[in-house]
Amino acid sequence: MNKNIANKYPKEVINLLEKMTLDEKVGQLYQAPFFSDIVTGHEYNSSETIKRIKKGLVGSILNIHNEEMLLKLQKTAVEDSRLGIPLIFCFDIVHGYKTAFPINLALSNSWDCDLIKRVSTAVAYETAHRGIHLTFSPMVDLVRDPRWGRVMESNGEDPYLSSILAKAYVEGYQQNDLSNPNSIAACSKHFIGYGQSEAGRDYNTVDMSKRVLYNMYLPPFISTIKSEVSMIMTSFNTIFDRPSTANKQLLKGLLRDELGFKGSIISDYTSTEEIINHKVAKDIKDAAYQCFDAGLDIEMVSETYINHLKDLIEEGAIKENDLDESVLRILKLKFDLGLLDNPYSYFYENSNQYILNDLTKSLSKEAAEKSMVLLKNDNILPLETSQKILLCGPMIDSQDVIGEWSAMADKKDVTSILSAFSSSDTLIITTDDSKESVSSADVVVMALGELGNEAGEGNSKTNLYLKQEQTDYFEKIYSYNKNIVVVIFAGRPLIITKFDKLAKAVLYAYQPGLEAGPAIKSLLMAESIPSGKITMTFPYHEGQIPIYYNHYQTGRPFDFSRPKYRYNTRYQDCQNEPLYPFGYGLSYATFKYENLSIDKQTLNKYDKLLVTIDCTNQSSFAAEEIIQLYIEALTFSVARPVNELKAYKKIMLKPKEKQTIQFELSVNDFRSYNLDMIHTAENHKYKIKVGPNSKTLYEAIVNVIDE
Ligand code: GLC
Repeated sequence: MNKNIANKYPKEVINLLEKMTLDEKVGQLYQAPFFSDIVTGHEYNSSETIKRIKKGLVGSILNIHNEEMLLKLQKTAVEDSRLGIPLIFCFDIVHGYKTAFPINLALSNSWDCDLIKRVSTAVAYETAHRGIHLTFSPMVDLVRDPRWGRVMESNGEDPYLSSILAKAYVEGYQQNDLSNPNSIAACSKHFIGYGQSEAGRDYNTVDMSKRVLYNMYLPPFISTIKSEVSMIMTSFNTIFDRPSTANKQLLKGLLRDELGFKGSIISDYTSTEEIINHKVAKDIKDAAYQCFDAGLDIEMVSETYINHLKDLIEEGAIKENDLDESVLRILKLKFDLGLLDNPYSYFYENSNQYILNDLTKSLSKEAAEKSMVLLKNDNILPLETSQKILLCGPMIDSQDVIGEWSAMADKKDVTSILSAFSSSDTLIITTDDSKESVSSADVVVMALGELGNEAGEGNSKTNLYLKQEQTDYFEKIYSYNKNIVVVIFAGRPLIITKFDKLAKAVLYAYQPGLEAGPAIKSLLMAESIPSGKITMTFPYHEGQIPIYYNHYQTGRPFDFSRPKYRYNTRYQDCQNEPLYPFGYGLSYATFKYENLSIDKQTLNKYDKLLVTIDCTNQSSFAAEEIIQLYIEALTFSVARPVNELKAYKKIMLKPKEKQTIQFELSVNDFRSYNLDMIHTAENHKYKIKVGPNSKTLYEAIVNVIDE
């Protein structure tokens, strides 16, 4: 054992390693499946797992949620194997264990780190009391294509916001102390570029420049590394024409050497042997060699490592020292989790007392209220208690609104919109959608949308419209009554242009989880005020996809003064603009922005730039507003986006209250990877733009000197 390895790890872990056989070392790098009803890829035979545990050939197990089974497996590892090294149990607890919180794309619309931290702390509490040690979360893939079903688990299309929220997730899960019994280890994923799968088709090819990867897709991972995330999972796709899982440039080069990541790197589900399908390995032994040589520590489910790493060591193709480092990283995680001292610390008597309690239920409702986005309101909302309200539509009483990656959450626990409204004894509601009943209603609340399993992994789709029968239903009801509030459930931005034109109001609920109905009722009745702002662009038409706010200008930008001029970047048959842009969302309050100012015309390398703007709540509602600050490089050595989010503030404004909001920027906020791949602002003029969303902005100009 070489010295510089030894002093990086606790003595207890070094001593344990020194007792291990080669087989047992390889075993720690194997994450085994076990008979589970939760499979996220090709079925795998789990019959060998118990035998392997007894031989010390399994380091961790995924997707088991039955506590008796977890305890049985842990006892087998601790009492029946030679060294008694405990297992780590891993599971995809992505937006709730038993209490279903809104899907992550919805949570990101809150722009609220404190909320995300409280949610992930609550998720960790439930999870840690049910025998699970590590969650495969946060997913921090940047997303730009709603055809991809996995946008539902992301933080949206912006690297800055995703980085901030990713930090909140990791801190909420890990709580800076993995030995804390209420915390769990976090695993950020999928490294890297998975959200850029071509044509929005899951697992498809990814091709991007190194500069786009560094500027756009890497920052959220850097944020999780700075927050000391315990593990990073590789992605299924190729990057720079090599599968991430066997990509030495990415794993050893970028993650280890450049970013100094010290945790374990784990494959995705069988993504090791899948490099054979990528046609970069000729067989599973070759696959084992290439993945380990690239820097992959743990193999999930497939068996290239347990079948071939030992041979590769004995043949001298792989150094045992390198194997030792991988094993030490996973042993250290077990040490940090307290498992080496007490392998049963995550098991509790009658653990039901720790889940679905009132605190987490009310937190789920708060999160849902802050995650939904009011996209349109033609003076029809909020509803009034005196109104006759018709509740209708295929989703009005649906409980299928928790979405994918729902872990142990049960749709039967969800309170629907109808249940929430029906529990009120003051409201005048009906669900009779006959012509006469609809015509006589003061307002119609119609719930439409995707079912819970229409997004998520392996659920890419080309048709982003609501089902025809839902469109037909809308048109029928619309012919009786024009005062329609549409509530839409979905795991992604759908193409809702038609409804948006005809409905008087659109509340995009995403998949809000356990407290869907109460949260929607609360927002529609102004018991809480809509504050969410979209973190993923809503296309006007599916032909525009991929469409996102931080795009380059092009050499022939669209000219709004000459919309029909042919030779600019445009479509013959559609606008360029999205239906709703990044950062957009309505409140019941109206906010007036004025007096944008900056405290200097030139920002030097060691200066700070103070940006101030006044924001007034002109309404009678106390409401939250998310004030966004973007920059735009007027020139740079490479093309840069027309807008780059660099700061934001979420503030509460009382009725008629005016606040002066201050942002402090440094030169670092203007930096980007330039022609020479140096992270710099260079010396240029930049626009500073502040406002309520990425399109409605007040501007100033500043010189930045980064030398
Ligand atoms: C899946 C997903 C990954 C998940 C893993 C374990 O295929 O890609 O996000 O954590 O398998 O379920």
